[in-house]
Amino acid sequence: MKILVTGGAGYIGSHTCVELLNQGHEVVVLDNLSNASEIALERVKEITGKDLTFYKKDLLNIEDINDVFENETIEAVIHFAGLKAVGESVAHPLWYYENNITGTLNLCKVMAKHDVKNIIFSSSATVYGTPEVVPIVEDSPLSTTNPYGSTKLMLEQILQDLHVADEAWNVVILRYFNPIGAHHSGIIGEDPKGIPNNLIPYITQVAVGKLDELTVFGDDYDTPDGSGVRDYIHVVDLAQGHVDALKRLNPNDGVSIYNLGTGQGYSVLDMVEAFSEVVGKEIPYVIKERRPGDIATCYAQADKAKREIGWEAKKDLKTMCEDSWRWQSNNPNGYGE
Ligand code: NAD
Ligand code: UFG
Repeated sequence: MKILVTGGAGYIGSHTCVELLNQGHEVVVLDNLSNASEIALERVKEITGKDLTFYKKDLLNIEDINDVFENETIEAVIHFAGLKAVGESVAHPLWYYENNITGTLNLCKVMAKHDVKNIIFSSSATVYGTPEVVPIVEDSPLSTTNPYGSTKLMLEQILQDLHVADEAWNVVILRYFNPIGAHHSGIIGEDPKGIPNNLIPYITQVAVGKLDELTVFGDDYDTPDGSGVRDYIHVVDLAQGHVDALKRLNPNDGVSIYNLGTGQGYSVLDMVEAFSEVVGKEIPYVIKERRPGDIATCYAQADKAKREIGWEAKKDLKTMCEDSWRWQSNNPNGYGE
């Protein structure tokens, strides 16, 4: 299939391009490079030995999107493009609503105009708010605590409404848990700008000597060791989930929603220990107060994806840590821009 990957130069998008190309799909990337580097796409080509087409375009410009659909015969869209930092979304809600909501509305309008009605959408476990029960199943109650999460929940609703209005729309909503790791080659990976917000990029930057010590946000949660528990999933497994989800873009499949997680929770202190072993030295850390808005425990029930699209996460925690570390230690400045 010829697939348009919005946000394809980003962390999860670039890994998904690799899996799509390896499995014989044609890839067209649309990205404005606001949080990515074109070098990632050069490296995708290096890994796969295959070509892809890149358009440096912005979803906020409807003509930009239309140009891509005029030039390419797109069959399905995997829609990653969006802003994703929770704290930034609290500080700049209008920016987040405009980029994520307006960008997606523009994309869907152009898709409809060109009669392309197959879309896979990047959602997040953040739509479960503070889960009442773990593991989290797909029909759990939904709520959000920040504008970023609200954009995801609103977009899930908008895509479902599209299908209600026009059954020709096939929609797959994928709710990611905590993606970490990098391609085994160590040449593509996560390249956050500035000081990382997320745990794993922070740990790897401590390990590589760019940051002094990790702050563990709270050790008084109701978890086995008191630190927060999450479902970390290897980004290559996550990428494969998108290729498998293409199977659900058939006439009459309608809307399908899947958790992409491992079903296994690890605490912050588990992650510090696992990384220390892989890196071969202690990761220095201090325990401080909880981070506002954090929840104690979040992990998936991922059986539905296995049942319906034959997907399950395969890579273990040690592999996730080794692959994150290979990327960070080979590329201490990320893509170097
Ligand atoms: P990322 O920032 O690396 O990738 C997003 C890409 O979208 C970037 O390359 C950026 O340049 C591009 N982009 C942003 N706005 C755009 C616009 N208006 N027009 C064109 N391109 C634009 O992030 P990621 O971690 O790869 O996440 C991909 C998707 O998955 C996002 O929608 C994110 O919200 C979602 N998600 C990520 C996580 C995570 O922890 N990484 C968890 C759950 C969901
Ligand atoms: N943590 C620390 N120190 C840090 C960073 C994080 O102790 O410096 C802890 C957090 O308190 C939490 C755990 O590490 O217990 C994971 O935190 P992350 O920031 O890595 O990830 P979150 O689970 O908070 O959120 C991430 C994304 C969200 C997404 C969610 C579910 O940032 O956008 O996963 O997919 F919604």
